[in-house]
Amino acid sequence: MYRDYYCGDPTENLVNKEITISGWINKRRDHGGLLFIDLRDRTGLIQVVFDPENLKPSEINWNQFRSEWIIKVKGLVKLRPKGTQNPKLNTGKIELIAKSYEVINKSKTLPFEISDFKEETEEFLRLKYRYLDLRRPQKYNILNLRHNVIKYIRDYLDNKGFLEIETPILIKSTPEGARDFVVPSRNNPGQFYALPQSPQQLKQLLMVAGVDKYFQIVKCFRDEDPRADRQPEFTQLDLEMSFVNQDDVLSLTEDLMKGLMEKVGLDKKYNFPFVRLTYDESMNLYGTDKPDLRYEMKINDFTDLCKDNQFKVLSDPVSRGEVVKGLVVPKGSEFSRRQIDDIVDYSKDLGSGGLIWIVLDSEFEFKSIVKKYLDKNFVKKLAKFSGAKNGDMILIVAGKNKNTLEILGKVRSRLGRDLKLYDQNEIKFCYITDFPLFEWDEDAQKWESSHHPFTMPHEKYLSNLTDNPGKIRAYCYDMVANGSELASGSIRIHKKELQEQVFSVLGYSKEQTNEQFSQLLNSFEYGAPPHGGIAPGIDRIVMLLAGTENIRDVIAFPKTQSGFDPLFESPSPLSKEQLNELCLDVIKSENKN
Ligand code: AMO
Repeated sequence: MYRDYYCGDPTENLVNKEITISGWINKRRDHGGLLFIDLRDRTGLIQVVFDPENLKPSEINWNQFRSEWIIKVKGLVKLRPKGTQNPKLNTGKIELIAKSYEVINKSKTLPFEISDFKEETEEFLRLKYRYLDLRRPQKYNILNLRHNVIKYIRDYLDNKGFLEIETPILIKSTPEGARDFVVPSRNNPGQFYALPQSPQQLKQLLMVAGVDKYFQIVKCFRDEDPRADRQPEFTQLDLEMSFVNQDDVLSLTEDLMKGLMEKVGLDKKYNFPFVRLTYDESMNLYGTDKPDLRYEMKINDFTDLCKDNQFKVLSDPVSRGEVVKGLVVPKGSEFSRRQIDDIVDYSKDLGSGGLIWIVLDSEFEFKSIVKKYLDKNFVKKLAKFSGAKNGDMILIVAGKNKNTLEILGKVRSRLGRDLKLYDQNEIKFCYITDFPLFEWDEDAQKWESSHHPFTMPHEKYLSNLTDNPGKIRAYCYDMVANGSELASGSIRIHKKELQEQVFSVLGYSKEQTNEQFSQLLNSFEYGAPPHGGIAPGIDRIVMLLAGTENIRDVIAFPKTQSGFDPLFESPSPLSKEQLNELCLDVIKSENKN
């Protein structure tokens, strides 16, 4: 009734055929009595020509057509006159000569242009009218990409014998490092469900149930401040396998990603196999556990070279047991003084006591703000050690090892971005393995899990559980691409005693452990198999493929930076009746209104 073809489909095969199409008016061009309209739907555009000579009279005057009206047109497909063809469009060789038309629906004046979209259109406005924003082909393409990613994953895992199983959304608080979103229970006044931060315990229980290979494309909820790559509500590919070791999980996920890149990777360059680095290697070489490996720029350890240096700024830290580390910036001699000062300031903002820069002019010539304190031979040794060439710049930071690495890691990624040291079309995957099991939380003065408490420590560190928890490395891994964490996972503890010991290091009392984790611990007493898994973030995979740095671009109806949904205007207050039914009262907080 409405159409024989989508707007983007007709080609010269249909010349001289009469067809009907429906779509939105993308653009109109008046040419002395003739009206050209680009009619649009999700597949693309078709040019429709309204010529009074060919048209049946209609109740609505076609001269009134406006952007985003929906019209149905019956017409004759004709080849476009020579010189007016558009090779960029699938329909570019033809046009539809309208014979009759019908207005299906009208549109008010738009809050922002769709056909002539301006990038600077305010995002809040776009989110408020998200259904219009999503009409843009760029947006539709991302939704389509997301669909293809999820479809590929489902088919792949189905082929490998995985079962997709839905787990509840109304559950109990699970510790994944963020705050829970909670839902009051009307039937149990004063009691609350929590929305899952991830189905971590549920998938482990499915392994105890003998499911063996589970996956789910699942919504997760975390009450934390949104960031460029973080939303309060996001989607994971959650997967878990029994009778596996770390390598089984990593190889499967690597193969899955390889297929994904080949089938829906939009011709991006990528590496296979993935680079594998331990957490310690990654920290030492790149100052982060999320290294962007599209460019080299490794951190050099200059500590030994600096120990007897006459320049106290370099040698004093060494005598205090601290370190001196640095980066080589290729072609750093091209930096202006202002650019150099910016980097120095940036490193200070990150907590460095200062940053020494040395620009190498020739074998014995260099520039530096501390030149008078630096010996030429020392600079030559630094250059030889780090591989710096004439024209490069060496940046040096001294201090405590962890801080120094983290500062240099951030300076490195800023330089990578500023100097565009990478190919936008490349994805460089790596696995980071052997994370510490625990991290010391200075503020809380206690040990925290570096991932989550269900992670299996390496056997050789088991004796360190009570005497030196910080030393323990775990069967815990992240998948990282271009400096962003795509996935995280681990081999899990499957024995009750060990799990209880870990909870005790984390400071949980026996009562707290029972209250929060009895379901998992009890299950471990009934034959829990060894198991492990991983959870890639779907939103982040789509971001990477779509080449966007804003997670909101890849989610149909995202929340703003403050967790607000401008379309539904949520969160919003509950009515008095709803509150009464739930036995809830709202008290005004001092900080918020
Ligand atoms: P983790 O908490 O590291 O692990 O999350 C796994 C992956 O989920 C994505 N992700 C997010 N994406 C968008 N917004 C967020 N707020 C957000 N938080 C996390 C990231 C991340 O790598 N249960 C464990 C997994 C496991 O051990 O199997 C877990 O949830 O891509």
